[in-house]
Order: sequence, then C-alpha cells, then structure tokens
Amino acid sequence: MTHRDHDVLIIGGGVAGLTLALHSAATRRVTLVRPASDDRGASRWAQGGIAAVLSPQDDFAAHVADTLVAGDGLCDERAVRFTVEQGPAAIEWLLSLGVPFTRDITPDAAYPYHLTREGGHGARRVIHVEDATGRAVLDTLKAHAEAHPAITVRDDLTAIGLIGDAAGHCRGARCLDARGELTALMARDTVLATGGASGLYRHTTSPQPASGEGMLMAAELGAELMNLEFQQFHPTCLYDPEGPPFLISEAVRGEGGRLVTASGERFMLAEDPRAELAPRDIVARAIDAEMQRSGAAHVWLDVRHLGEAAIRHHFPTIHAHCLSRGLDIAHQPIPVVPAAHYSCGGVATDLDGATSVPHLHAIGEVACTGLHGANRMASNSLLECLVFARSCAARLASPAAPSSARLVTVTTGNTRAAPEQVHEWRQAMREVMSRQVAIVRHDSGLESADRELAALAATVGPTIQDAAAPDPALASLWHALRLARLTVASARARRESRGLHYNPDCPHHGDTAPRPSRCRLADLETPA
Ligand code: SIN
Repeated sequence: MTHRDHDVLIIGGGVAGLTLALHSAATRRVTLVRPASDDRGASRWAQGGIAAVLSPQDDFAAHVADTLVAGDGLCDERAVRFTVEQGPAAIEWLLSLGVPFTRDITPDAAYPYHLTREGGHGARRVIHVEDATGRAVLDTLKAHAEAHPAITVRDDLTAIGLIGDAAGHCRGARCLDARGELTALMARDTVLATGGASGLYRHTTSPQPASGEGMLMAAELGAELMNLEFQQFHPTCLYDPEGPPFLISEAVRGEGGRLVTASGERFMLAEDPRAELAPRDIVARAIDAEMQRSGAAHVWLDVRHLGEAAIRHHFPTIHAHCLSRGLDIAHQPIPVVPAAHYSCGGVATDLDGATSVPHLHAIGEVACTGLHGANRMASNSLLECLVFARSCAARLASPAAPSSARLVTVTTGNTRAAPEQVHEWRQAMREVMSRQVAIVRHDSGLESADRELAALAATVGPTIQDAAAPDPALASLWHALRLARLTVASARARRESRGLHYNPDCPHHGDTAPRPSRCRLADLETPA
C-alpha cells in the first residue's frame, strides 16, 4: 500500500464537498477525492432548488417555523436557526461564482430571481435554475474547483475506509485506484461528503445513490450516528418501469400540480389542509395508502391545467425527459410513485460539521446536524450543504494540532467476490429494506428484517474478513449492509410514529419529549 500525505482531505465531490474545497483552499491545501460517479450523485439530480429567505415578503422566523413543523418535533432548533440565518449569504456566494439562477421577469418582482414553492413552505423561498438546479450549481462549483491552484482533484480513487490511530483520531482514508491498488491518503483533517443512504432501497429518485458508505466508515472509527430511521421517500418519482429513475420535482406541485386517482379525484384534499403542499412524509404516505387502496401501481400528477407554455417555461427538463419516454405532460397526466430520496439521519455533527471523532468532519447528506429532524423540508438540503460546508471551512482554517499516536492496523482487506454474487446480495438487502423498512413499518416486519439482514451479514461477513485483495463493490456492500442493520435497530427502538417513521403498531407520538436516536457500530457487534 502506498502512502501520501495531505492537509485537508475531502471525500466526495457533490455540492457540499466542492463548496468546502473552494472555501478551505483559501487557508489550506485541499485534496478532493471525487470518483466519476459523483457526477451522478444526489446533488446533480436535485431539481427544485435551494430554500433561503430572499424575498422582502419572507423572514427568518417563518422559514424556521416551517422547518420545525416539517421536522415533526425532532429538529434541533439551534441548527435550524443557524442554517436559515446563513442562507442568504450562501446564495450571494453562489451568485458571485456565476450560478445562472432563473430570473423573475415579472415587472413588479420583489426579488430579481424567481422563487418557487414546495411542500411545507408557507412562502415562495426556493431559488432555482429552471428545473435543474443541482446540475447548474454542481457544474459551476466543479469548474471553479478544477481551476483552483490549491485544490487537487483525484477522480481516480474510491475511498473504502478511514484510517484511525491509537488515540481514536482520524488520520486519513484508504482508497482504491482503478487497478485495485490500495493507497493510504494520510491527512491532517478528513471530511466526509459522501451522500446519504437511499441506495439501501430498491427504488430511488437518482440512478446511482450512495448506500451510506460514508456513514459506516465514520462509525468504524467510533463516530456516533443519529436518526437513521428517518429515510425520506420523495412522493413523486416518474413511474417508468423500463426507464431510469427520474424525479418529478416538488416544484411541480408548488406551481399548481395536482395529485389524482385513476378516476381523476384529488385525494390530498381529504388528507391535509395543505393538500399537495403538505410536508413530504404526509404526501408520500397518502400516495402509498391510495396505491394500497386501489391496487394501482402508481397515482397521477396532473399539470395540464397550467398550460403548455407555463409547463415548458418552468419545467423544461421534466417536459423533455417525459417526452423522450413517450409522455407529453402538457396533454397527459404523469404516473408517479414515491421512491427513496434522502436520508435525514447520518453521522452526528455540531454546527461546524465536527463529528465525535477528532479530525473527522462530515457535511451534506452523510451528516445529521439536527436541521431536518424527523422529516426534511424540501430544498433545505442544498442549503444545508452550502451552510455547513462554509462553517466547516471556517473551523478548519484554525486547525487543531495533529495527533501523533501510532496508527491502528487496518485488518479489513477484502476478498474478491464474483460481481454477480455481490449484486445478488445487494438486491437481497434492498428487497428486505423496501418490503419491511420503507414508508410504513410494522413491528413484525422490522423483526423479520432484523433476522434476514443478520443472516445476510453472516454470509457476507466472512468473505470480507478473509483478507487479501480488495474489491470496492464488496466493500461498499459490507458498509451498506451494516448500516441497514443499524437502521432497522433504530426503527425498532423508536416506539412511536413521527415524521418519516410510521409504524401502525405505535401510530402516535410518544408520551415523552421527542429525542433523536443515537447509535454506534459497537451496538451491532455486542451480543444482545
Ligand atoms: C425536488 O425538486 O422535489 C427535490 C428537491 C429536494 O429534495 O429538496
């Protein structure tokens, strides 16, 4: 294994990782490990936009209040306030880099850029680039990072684990190159920006979702994980069994799209006074219930009443994608289903992204800052990526003294398993999670998920521990499988229904004050 020394090592090149790199590069030397697949990660597929208080008719208190309501009692109010208050400066920074946000061309516009609405927001506060915001932000950040003299981008490496020392500090990461050679990137500070865990599920809103690899790598060093049971399902993914996953942005409902049954009836009106713009947990559950009731494979999202010109103006990407799949949304309703979209839980951090492991930070979807509570409000995630990347950079600008304790020997070399075998194991895990640990979870289903995942882990584990040549697909599966088990354990431990965690065997909020769930990898390894 070759060793290389680095100053700040960032693992992950979505909006959070790139924002941190650009800010940190003012004071530190930055190495960013950004495999090509990051271009297909969650940031790129974020359509709707970035929530921030920008209109003179909006205010911080309203954005805070809406976020707390959506989070169903489990947000950390300090994190919410911090994020919301830092929002306008983060947007100013993106504008200074040249992100081409969509302008508001109406003559009496109160703010120069168009602000759309999404579920849970009581005001128009989502700034966007047409209906492809993530792509535009990512491309802009990437161009700046690639041109920056203090940033080295390594797109030839995949991180498969972190390196720790005897003092319990993080000292870098183990990575694989395309030839399967191991490289140890030793670093003074390491930051995970590796995305969430939607890939634990069969149907997702993006084609190459992360499966919680970063969360598990942090847990292997002893970091605390939080709120894993709160996995968000986006209410409206295009129902297209033969095609790639494709999101139909919540902004479509924000601009007036209606959810209807096969007979054209608007079923959200009976569910919640906010109807289609209720928070995501409520809308996704209502769609799931409607599909169960009717036996249909999807519901419909109807935008025809908005008119073709408005549809093409606001949603050019969605319109074009659907047309390419044989569906003209100006004249036909859109078949939609909920799909795994965002992990509200992750590595527990403070307001600067610091984890419980010294010299290890986590930002973006891999982290759990307390902002989202039991259910993330739409478009608060890109905001969180920006705000916490900026605060993390400020903290890293005055680095703590590095540890000089001896390194802990890494024992997890991996055997190579046949790709078909790894694929089969991954499908088995996703099947269990999608069947038993999705929008509705029953006690009996969680119990059987626990058993089935433990049995799968007992099969996969020995192939990992047998050492020898590494295999990135197997390493990723092993991370995902243990995270799935911790997710089930967190879901079993929550004896109430709250936000995204709905269990009909305990359908109400609990009696005591709501508390985040916390776990460590050692919880799995300790016999019950
Ligand atoms: C969407 O456009 O609906 C996705 C944006 C988000 O998840 O916040």
